[in-house]
Amino acid sequence: MHRSARLPASFEPNPLSRMLSERRAAHLPVVDLTVSNPTACGFAYPEAEIRAALADRAVLGYAPDPLGSRRAREAVAAFHGRDLRADDLLLTASTSEGYALLFKLLGDPGDEVLVPSPSYPLFDWLARLEGMQARAVPSYFHERWHLDLGALDAAASGRTRAVVVVNPNNPTGHFLSRTEWAGLTELCARRGLALLVDEVFADYSLEAPPDALPTALEDTDPPCPLFLLSGLSKIAALPQVKLGWLAVRGPGAADHLEALAFLADQYLSVSASAQAAAPALLALAPGIQVQVRTRLRANLAALDRALADRPHLSRLPVEGGWSVLLRRPALDADDACALRLLRETGVLTHPGSFFDLPGDGHLVLSLLTPEAIFSDGLERALPQL
Ligand SMILES: Cc1ncc(COP(=O)(O)O)c(C=O)c1O
Repeated sequence: MHRSARLPASFEPNPLSRMLSERRAAHLPVVDLTVSNPTACGFAYPEAEIRAALADRAVLGYAPDPLGSRRAREAVAAFHGRDLRADDLLLTASTSEGYALLFKLLGDPGDEVLVPSPSYPLFDWLARLEGMQARAVPSYFHERWHLDLGALDAAASGRTRAVVVVNPNNPTGHFLSRTEWAGLTELCARRGLALLVDEVFADYSLEAPPDALPTALEDTDPPCPLFLLSGLSKIAALPQVKLGWLAVRGPGAADHLEALAFLADQYLSVSASAQAAAPALLALAPGIQVQVRTRLRANLAALDRALADRPHLSRLPVEGGWSVLLRRPALDADDACALRLLRETGVLTHPGSFFDLPGDGHLVLSLLTPEAIFSDGLERALPQL
């Protein structure tokens, strides 16, 4: 049987995943500093309220609307504010599905999207599975992260359809500055590109500088088509509910939403329960976010204490998001370092190379890790760096 060339050539796990499986199979301890699943991080979810929300009577009926139920869209619009309207929104089963719809909307096979890197590694596959290519354009770090607008402009070709940015970025935590926003929207308008902005982490600002753009929705009249992606996965730390959304603004927004509705109508993938529960779950989100932010800050403070007497190690600022980049002397490659740490200390970290960080000397840690595990992991791992 022929298999699509969009798929990977093999499904071999990478060496770190293999070593992790082997350790788990051998019942060896693992101190996981990479956890990104909030439901496995010991947060006190309002269980009764979540169950009640998902048991809404509306789940008994099927009333398909390719944009998603108006009631849910109104709740999402009210949650974001910034003049967003239910009519600007389309619900999806996840942010990933939002990307899939957008790539179907924007590109033909062989077209590409530009992605400032380092960034969320899933873009490569999300684009490729739609027949497109995600082209990485390196950002640079000088006291803070900066988009290289000149490099993005130079990389745009006749086949480029969009730029994809994450605000704040995963894993660098970089919030776009207002100046970067102006430059980026001008570039997209001038080159005829759409701008996709993933703001799943926008509510988790930690060390954002004063000129950070808290959300692209601040711009109510962007000069280029703007597609904002978000969802309950991070906003309410409820990835299992499977509810995301796209907000559409800028030139041609109504036409783009109509085309997205056509695409979504082929699948109608958002469940009745997720849509019915959306208003109540969004009302619970601020309470869950407080717990998450407290965790992120506590772990960052623990890391700073641990780094205080280790001048050869440091961390980059965390403007926002759930990750921190630990800097270490690059005596070995990041991949080799992560393998060594797991083998010798049982501590699981992600090498910077997983996210296309340039060169060696970075490990990525999840600030979502329960505090005791985070501190234990630091105690075991830092002396080996
Ligand atoms: C930048 C970014 N976007 C989207 C997602 C996933 O969102 P969803 O569960 O809605 O697909 C993640 C998950 O880690 C992410 O890091």
